[in-house]
Amino acid sequence: MKHNIFITRRIPEAGLALLREHTDVHVFPHDRQITKDELLSSIRDSDGLLCLLGDTIDADVIAAAPKLRCISSFAVGYDNIDIQTATKHGITVTNTPGVLTEATADIAFALMIAAARRIVESDAWLRQGHFEGWAPMLFLGLDLHRRTLGIIGAGRIGQALARKAVGAFEMKLLYFGRRRDEDFERRLHARFVDLDTLMRESDVVSLHVPLAQETRHMIGARELALMKREAILVNTARGAVVDETALIAALREHRIFAAGLDVFENEPDIPNELMALPNTVLLPHIGSASIETRDRMAVMAARNLLDVLQGREAEHRVVPHSTP
Ligand code: NAP
Ligand code: GLV
Repeated sequence: MKHNIFITRRIPEAGLALLREHTDVHVFPHDRQITKDELLSSIRDSDGLLCLLGDTIDADVIAAAPKLRCISSFAVGYDNIDIQTATKHGITVTNTPGVLTEATADIAFALMIAAARRIVESDAWLRQGHFEGWAPMLFLGLDLHRRTLGIIGAGRIGQALARKAVGAFEMKLLYFGRRRDEDFERRLHARFVDLDTLMRESDVVSLHVPLAQETRHMIGARELALMKREAILVNTARGAVVDETALIAALREHRIFAAGLDVFENEPDIPNELMALPNTVLLPHIGSASIETRDRMAVMAARNLLDVLQGREAEHRVVPHSTP
C-alpha cells in the first residue's frame, strides 16, 4: 500500500511529481496558510507531512498523527517544529539546507544596498510625483565600498553574503558565532570578534543565526545602542532574533541609519510603527523565493520524505542543538 502524504500548501510541481510517483499525495486545497484545526483533522492518516515554516508543528499536531514517520520542512529553519516531541515519537524531521543559500544571501545583499542608498524610499517618492529634477542633496545615502560588514552566524548564508560583499564592495569582514572558522578567516580575511565589538565596529550588521533559545532577542536595546549612528541592520534570519520594539525605537530616533528586513517577529503581522518608518526596507519573507531555488527546495523536501518512508537514512535530518 502507498504511503499517505499531507502537504500544507501547494509547492512547485517538481516536488509534487516526485511524491506522486511513489505515494498518495494530499495537498491542502486553499492558497492560504492552513489553520491548526484544519491541520489536526488533515493528518490523522498521514505517514508523512510536508510543512512550511509558518506552520506550527507542536505536540498537539504530532499527537494527532499516530502514523506519522517524517516531518519534512520546506525550509532550512526549523524553529516552528517541536523536534524533541517529534523525536520522542520516533518521527524524523528534515529540512532543505544549501539549495537556498545563494538566493537568501542575494536578498540580504539587496537589502543592504537598498537600505544604504534609500532605493525604496526614493522610488516611492518619485511615484508620488515629487521629482522635479536632479538636486545635490536629494536622497543622500551611505557608501558600502570598503566599509565593514559584521556577520552574526557565519554559516552557509552568512558566508555566502560575506563572499558577495567582499567581491562587490571589497568590504572588510567581522563575524561572531559560537566558534571560529579558520578557513573562512583565511579565505576572506574575516576577523572573529565578540558580539559587542561587532555591533560597535560594523557599518552593516547582518543576521544569519537560526532562531533558538540562545538567539531569541539576541539583538535588543543594549546591542542596538552599541551600533554606529550611520549603521544598517539587515535581518534575513528570523524576526525574533531581534527585539522588534527596540529596533523600532532605534530607527524612529535615528540612532541607526536604516534596517533591511525580510523577517518579522510575529509574521505575518507587522507593527504599524515599523511600516510607517521611511528608513526601513521591508520584504515579505522572500529570501529563498527564486523559481529555481523553490524548485530545488521542493525536490529536496520530497526526497527527504521518500528517504524516510522507504527506509533510507535521511540525508537532511535535523539534529537540533536547542529548542526555539
Ligand atoms: P547555518 O549554515 O546552520 O548557519 C547558521 C550559523 O549560525 C552557523 O554558523 C551557526 O554556528 C551559527 N549559530 C547557531 N547558533 C548560534 C548562537 N547561539 N550564537 C551564535 N551563532 C550561532 O544555517 P543557514 O543555512 O545559513 O541558515 C541560517 C538561518 O537563516 C536559518 O536558520 C533560517 O532561520 C534563516 N533563513 C531565512 C531565509 C529567508 O527566507 N529569509 C531563508 C533561508 C534561511 P554553528 O556552526 O556553531 O552551529
Ligand atoms: C526560510 O526562511 C527558511 O528557513 O528556509
